[in-house]
Amino acid sequence: MDFVLSEEHQMIRKAAKDFAEQELLPGVIDRDEHQYFPEELIRKMADLGFMGMMVRTEYGGAGLDTLSYVLAMEEISKVDASAAVCMSVNNSLVCWGIQEYGTEEQKQRYLNPLAKGACLGAFLLSEPEAGSDASAQHTTAQDCGDYYLLNGVKNWITNAGIAKVFLVMAQTHPERGSHGINTFIVESDWPGVILGPKENKMGIRGSDTRSVTFQDVKVPKENRIGEDGFGFKFAMRTLEGGRIGIAAQALGIAAGAYERALHYATQRKAFGVPIAQHQAIQFKLADMATRIEAARRLVWKAAWEKDQNRPFGLYSSMAKLYASEVAMWATIEAVQIHGGYGYVKEYHVERMMRDAKITQIYEGTSEIQRLIISRHILQQHG
Ligand code: CAA
Repeated sequence: MDFVLSEEHQMIRKAAKDFAEQELLPGVIDRDEHQYFPEELIRKMADLGFMGMMVRTEYGGAGLDTLSYVLAMEEISKVDASAAVCMSVNNSLVCWGIQEYGTEEQKQRYLNPLAKGACLGAFLLSEPEAGSDASAQHTTAQDCGDYYLLNGVKNWITNAGIAKVFLVMAQTHPERGSHGINTFIVESDWPGVILGPKENKMGIRGSDTRSVTFQDVKVPKENRIGEDGFGFKFAMRTLEGGRIGIAAQALGIAAGAYERALHYATQRKAFGVPIAQHQAIQFKLADMATRIEAARRLVWKAAWEKDQNRPFGLYSSMAKLYASEVAMWATIEAVQIHGGYGYVKEYHVERMMRDAKITQIYEGTSEIQRLIISRHILQQHG
């Protein structure tokens, strides 16, 4: 067992850290306040290879492993969790899904530009009445011979306003339940694709989240991913990987808040000494450091299992569950350590606290992760 990162992994981590501190930190408060993320920053992330990290080089990606991806995700999330979710959805939900299950033609046409960051992707599973219960899809894809007719509404879609490529789940054979669902590649500018207004969110406010309505959208048959009825399994398998990315995002939010709290505690004086010399603060810092390290080990374990081509669904859910709970708890502690300063935007930790909450909700709530974990362990138990 080796807990030391290779030189290559250390370089990737440093590249992400430098980028986050130099390019993302300036302006992160303004982007949170006014809810935007400039195209120029996406361009810069793409130039560094962050938009298609695990995509093979022949399809325009960086050809790296999952561990590299989580290292970069952690560093970027320490500074700007909105940038991180935009990157995460493109990498693990959209690019990975097409690379793994797409046809050669789909890969040439869509994966190549997505991996290079020439365009962005979004993953459209959730609906007004299908969140945790993902197979209860109301969006329909009627088989019309050489095309499908898509109708329905998708909710809370990350990247919706800036993505060109949508992966859309829809029900084709309602009588077959989850076996009747298909996934389609839909271009966001096709007739009948209607974007809702940008959601005014509590956290990750720099990221673009909207609902998307489909009104008689004609989707060519060759844009279906996999066999007829494969759509739900596609979504579940893709989300297993996606949850490693969100776990890394949660880890980064927690670690970013901890680093700020540690720094503040050594600078701020109360009762004649830096507050870091008070045991009340020392115990908080000790607990934060310990839980963050435990979360990091779970995230790396999930990434390692995936890189070994072993089943990783149990570990991705464990990593997401634990890291997101650590993120929520650690950011609250970071605000507490900052006292009144923690409650104002200039000190960053209040934003991190707001950002942390979504990691317990999207790509499966904490309750769904517990459900998945318990299914795995009971199945192993026999
Ligand atoms: N891999 C492959 N197949 C899987 C699978 C997996 N991980 N999980 C389930 N399946 C298969 C099952 O084997 C079953 O197939 P068979 O009938 O052939 O046996 C079929 O799918 C149905 O499975 P279940 O009966 O287990 O399905 P369920 O209705 O009980 O739901 C669930 C399972 C785990 C709760 C699922 O609905 C789920 O994951 N819900 C959460 C959804 C979610 O994470 N949404 C996130 C939205 S995307 C997002 O947030 C992105 C973003 O913008 C940031």
